[in-house]
Amino acid sequence: MKLIEVKDIRDNIGEEVRIKGWVKNYRKGSSKLRFVIFRDGSGIVQAVAFKPEMGEDKFEKVKQITIESSLEIIGIPTKHPKKEDVYEFQLTDLNIINIADEYPIGKKEHGVDFLLSNRHLWLRSPSQNAALKIRHTVYHAISEYLNENGFYRFDSPILTPNASEGTTTLFEVPYFDIGPAFLSQSGQLYLEAGIMSLGKVYDFGPVFRAEKSKTRKHLTEFWMMDAEAAFVEHEENMDIQEELIRFVIRKVIERNKKELELLKRDVEQLKKADAHFIRMTHREVIKMLKDKGIDIDYHDDFGAAEEEMITEDFDVPVFVEKWPKEIKSFYMKRDKEDPDLVLGADLIAPEGFGEIIGGSQREDDHEILLNRIKREGYDLKDYQWFLDLRKYGSVPHSGFGIGLERLIQWISGIKHIREVIPFPRMINRINP
Ligand code: 4AD
Ligand code: MG
Repeated sequence: MKLIEVKDIRDNIGEEVRIKGWVKNYRKGSSKLRFVIFRDGSGIVQAVAFKPEMGEDKFEKVKQITIESSLEIIGIPTKHPKKEDVYEFQLTDLNIINIADEYPIGKKEHGVDFLLSNRHLWLRSPSQNAALKIRHTVYHAISEYLNENGFYRFDSPILTPNASEGTTTLFEVPYFDIGPAFLSQSGQLYLEAGIMSLGKVYDFGPVFRAEKSKTRKHLTEFWMMDAEAAFVEHEENMDIQEELIRFVIRKVIERNKKELELLKRDVEQLKKADAHFIRMTHREVIKMLKDKGIDIDYHDDFGAAEEEMITEDFDVPVFVEKWPKEIKSFYMKRDKEDPDLVLGADLIAPEGFGEIIGGSQREDDHEILLNRIKREGYDLKDYQWFLDLRKYGSVPHSGFGIGLERLIQWISGIKHIREVIPFPRMINRINP
């Protein structure tokens, strides 16, 4: 007998098949009738157990099941008599694989702390399942776009001797006789070496920040896709990001209709973001915020509240470009027109989801970069290799880093970042 998945039920109408999975729920129709809401990784279906059809012995097995028991169900897929595109499963038999103990996550509302402590089980809930399916699409869509546009995957190391994004958020690890090593905050610096061999490269993996913030947008371990390209300058760098993000939005809308619906995402609003992104200089943004009555200075960075205000009048993401050099990283290239500014751009998502990308053109002049590194107080010996890249065939180049979870949060409309990664790591939690 054929073994199928729930998602393929429509192609097997009227044929006796098997499906393996778990009991999401069950209810009693009458003494002769039971309904089993059954799920596997691919979908959910209602299985109907009718005693006169199954016979006494087999029906007894149905009566034993509990929530989250694992089973192999055997029966015949049918079309729902009234509902379009809904299918059912008429049970003829079932094999019990494991009878689950009383399941701790029930129908009543649980506190977030309880759910996080039971993250290994909470993952099975429909909303969490939907978020992870969207994560899968976003991950693949980003890779798809880059692969189709000539970027080579280039795996940057996780154990590193130096900081890329400032020393305040470094996680230190003892490293044999060499002394402390640090968990990577971004693979960017290594990608800058990669482009001199491959032209255009990207990495995609976990990065770490000992971030003290307890906001709904911060994790201590999150996934970053860093991309880097030789001979690409600031404007073109933003063009690539815009095209990539719009590609990802379209793929999720196309592939995750059900999940977006389940999460009650306003898809019409999301579709509006698939249009030209706004580009404003940091200075223009500060002016706009001042006009909105915010007490902010031309040399200030933005907090969460300001980020929300930046996009409140727009349906599309906003690039904030050309930042005062002192509030941005040492590797960003100075603006020729105004040496107090750097050619960096942050991409701020609409609907209050905040910064999803940080990117810039990179400083390609050896002397300027050397001075920036010295001014940061970094140990020159750790950055010698990075400076070398400016000595042997230096070229203008740019890149950017997408915070995977931030992007998923916005696209799926999920308020808290902890729900878009399987096992969130936060300042006050590392278990399970
Ligand atoms: O803006 P960031 O710090 O940029 C870099 O690390 C660059 N080296 C990237 C590059 O140019 N290749 O981080 C990039 C993105 C942010 O825009 C944000 O989306 C996300 O990473 N991010 C975080 N996401 C979750 N939790 C945190 N603590 C995050 N910190 C940054
Ligand atoms: Mg940033």
